[in-house]
Amino acid sequence: MSVTRSRREFFGVAAATLAGASLFPKRVFGQSAAGTPALLGGSPVHTGGWPAWPEWRQSWEPSILQVLRSGRWYRGSGGEQVPQFEAAYAKLLGARRCLATASGTTALIVGMHALDVDAGDEVIVSPFTFIASYNAILMMKALPVLADTDPATLTVDSASIASRITDRTRAIMPVHIYGMPCDMDPVLAIAKKHRVAVIEDACQAWLAEYHGRMCGTIGDLGCFSFQNSKHLPSGEGGAITGDSEDVLDRCASFHDCGRPYGGFKGTRPNFTRGGNFRMQHVQAAMLLQQLDKLVQDTARRREHADRLTASLKEIPGIQPVRLPENSRAVWHLYPFRYDAEKFQGLPRDRFIRAMRAEGIPCSTGYQEQYYDGLLDEAINSRGYKRLFSAQRLKDYRDSFQALTGNKQVCETTVAVTQNLLLAAPGDIDHIPAAIRKIQTHGAALARA
Ligand SMILES: Cc1ncc(COP(=O)(O)O)c(C=O)c1O
Repeated sequence: MSVTRSRREFFGVAAATLAGASLFPKRVFGQSAAGTPALLGGSPVHTGGWPAWPEWRQSWEPSILQVLRSGRWYRGSGGEQVPQFEAAYAKLLGARRCLATASGTTALIVGMHALDVDAGDEVIVSPFTFIASYNAILMMKALPVLADTDPATLTVDSASIASRITDRTRAIMPVHIYGMPCDMDPVLAIAKKHRVAVIEDACQAWLAEYHGRMCGTIGDLGCFSFQNSKHLPSGEGGAITGDSEDVLDRCASFHDCGRPYGGFKGTRPNFTRGGNFRMQHVQAAMLLQQLDKLVQDTARRREHADRLTASLKEIPGIQPVRLPENSRAVWHLYPFRYDAEKFQGLPRDRFIRAMRAEGIPCSTGYQEQYYDGLLDEAINSRGYKRLFSAQRLKDYRDSFQALTGNKQVCETTVAVTQNLLLAAPGDIDHIPAAIRKIQTHGAALARA
């Protein structure tokens, strides 16, 4: 089995494995961290599984049935759930407006359109992100220009953003990856200096906070995902938040086939450019039910992440992530950096296999996906060759080599998923216990 498993695959497997398991499985006592590693035939540190995700509650069912029985399923049918969700989510985040969308990807596309990102423009983005951030920019026929990653924070290195600005740059897209806030002040300063927009990819960062503001309400627009694995899931779904009535009116219009909306009348009597990126009422009903839970789960994840960080920072070769001053993460994944040398040369992939054998599901972070062919496919296409000069596309391709911080992050990150942080505190302690056990036997595990 590959150690590089996407969150979606992971949750699929976890859900199947954990079907029928209780939400908070019993603690397993008596597993010594000094014992034989499970990969070498010993007993695992953790047994009994982890909280399953997503979680469904029977008490939510009447609100879903109400939508189904009403027949008012699509946004334009007169149902109330989507607008209700938009108002509640905007209030929760402290944003003036919220527009619900079909997904996080479509939120990014709609948001970029409203901020006037057009074919042939450039958008500066974090490379250490889910591929949808790149893809959304490609959907605009714009160039996803990759800034470097700060190995200490796993988020964008703002110093590298400035060096990526060109006369084509239209927007900067910082990504609050794993729910960890980017250092937004320098990003905003660069954007202001060069008069470009900031669209936050907050698709993994519901309720993350930076300098007293919620992620997704700091730039011109913020985009969220409510896909199945997310902390606020509805299968698929997304949202855009922002304070500008004009920009949100443009978003609302573009997401609804280009119908005039609010103060945005478009350029034609009826329709302007647009698509169908609407959320359904049944999705909104699911989300409305989970808002209180999101707040409670977030507090629990934070408390348990602090507990985990306190233990992990005592282990040589394990480096928890540094957050910007005065910020709070929400931990969609809980990542740390792994130094194989401090584990007697045990390679990271082998470490991950050993952790899984100990009952701790974990995986690598994102790979150097700019070498995977997606971006080559784009820049070698007829369209991109028409939109950008051959020299620009060559320089663009060459620029990937400068992503040294990101390379380091891709090679050394290990992450556990958020559902582990919802377990009982004693179960959380199994994570450092498993790591210490593996460290003691690093050489034997490397040989096995
Ligand atoms: C960082 C990031 N951006 C964008 C997206 C796209 O969201 P969706 O899958 O809802 O389209 C995701 C979803 O996983 C994401 O994690």
